[in-house]
Amino acid sequence: MANGLDDVVAAETVLSDVDGLGGRLTIRGHSLLELAGRWRYPQVARLLLDGFFDDLPGDAELAEAIGRARVEVFRRLQPIFPTLAALDVYSGMRAGIALLQDGGTLADALRLIAAPAVLTPALLRAKRGDKAVAPDKGADHAADMLRMLSGKADSPDLARALDTYLVTVCDHGLNASTFATRVVASTQAGLTSAILAGLGALKGPLHGGAPGPVVEMLDAIEASGDAAGWLRDEIVHGERIMGFGHRIYRVRDPRADVLKAVVRQLGGKGGTGRRLAFAEEVEQAALEVLRVAKPQRSIQTNVEFYTALLLEAAGFPAEAFSNVFAAGRIAGWIAHAREQQTTGRLIRPQSRYVGPVPDLVA
Ligand code: ACO
Repeated sequence: MANGLDDVVAAETVLSDVDGLGGRLTIRGHSLLELAGRWRYPQVARLLLDGFFDDLPGDAELAEAIGRARVEVFRRLQPIFPTLAALDVYSGMRAGIALLQDGGTLADALRLIAAPAVLTPALLRAKRGDKAVAPDKGADHAADMLRMLSGKADSPDLARALDTYLVTVCDHGLNASTFATRVVASTQAGLTSAILAGLGALKGPLHGGAPGPVVEMLDAIEASGDAAGWLRDEIVHGERIMGFGHRIYRVRDPRADVLKAVVRQLGGKGGTGRRLAFAEEVEQAALEVLRVAKPQRSIQTNVEFYTALLLEAAGFPAEAFSNVFAAGRIAGWIAHAREQQTTGRLIRPQSRYVGPVPDLVA
């Protein structure tokens, strides 16, 4: 068995299915293409949470309840924003979330959903010495997140783009952070503890930490003026090309296409349009370099490549990209935690001992 648990089925789920050969993502019976750009994030959160909370209200009521939860999280954590902002923005968000009640009620779950959307803009503003902007409980979730970041009502197009992003990353089978969440949930430790495990796993550059380095890569390639040469050099030095490759997908990650279309809509002839045209050139060069360097493996564009462009266009700095990923994935984590808890079964695999054997004492 491989160290990475490749091909091991470790849970049964009704939540999502990743078809790695067909390049399809199904979320509770809906294809990603059916949801992205059509359903709002709170609606998709409701879809994921359905059946896991007895008191789950309808779509409109849930969107309002998430709005009230944003206000509550802001009110509770505002006094310590300056303390949290002394950390990097991901660790600050995680530390703020750790202070939320570790219960299992719907209210606890909604505060968790609200928390990344509130903490990310507040901590980014605190870091640059700006006062936090309070949430508007009646506003659309994604639009409010952007307003709390910039301090003004952003364009509906940007809010819609962010909303589509949150929906696109809401759940994705048994990825590393979801597995970590389910392991902790299986100990009956409580929702906040399970989410903190997911947050820990998401941070790494092989998972949700990739889009920040994608920006650095694009900037470095632009400065070098030679995409193929730069990329080949990385491979020669044993580096991975960020935003490419996936454990499950052997074809293009369908989320990459959804996000690329969103960036194209935002693009026009301005900065985003130029950045997209350049990224497309880099993408083609990377696919070719990877095809030649790793002919045994089909390495394709993954979700993180166009995530970087979309979140950059929405006004988030690269250091906060993983926060925004967490803001979308958190509904999936909560649903998986609840689903795991209902099995009542502790996740406890075995390891094979390959270390030294103690001397036998007679
Ligand atoms: N760049 C260069 N080489 C790569 C890449 C890449 N992006 N991805 C895989 N490879 C190579 C490996 O070096 C390895 O080569 P080798 O056989 O010569 O040693 C081969 O492909 C197989 O690699 P594995 O590590 O077995 O592939 P795995 O399925 O574990 O990789 C992963 C998945 C970790 C995502 C990998 O593709 C990667 O590191 N990508 C870059 C980081 C990234 O974009 N992460 C975000 C993933 S999406 C998400 O989590 C939301």
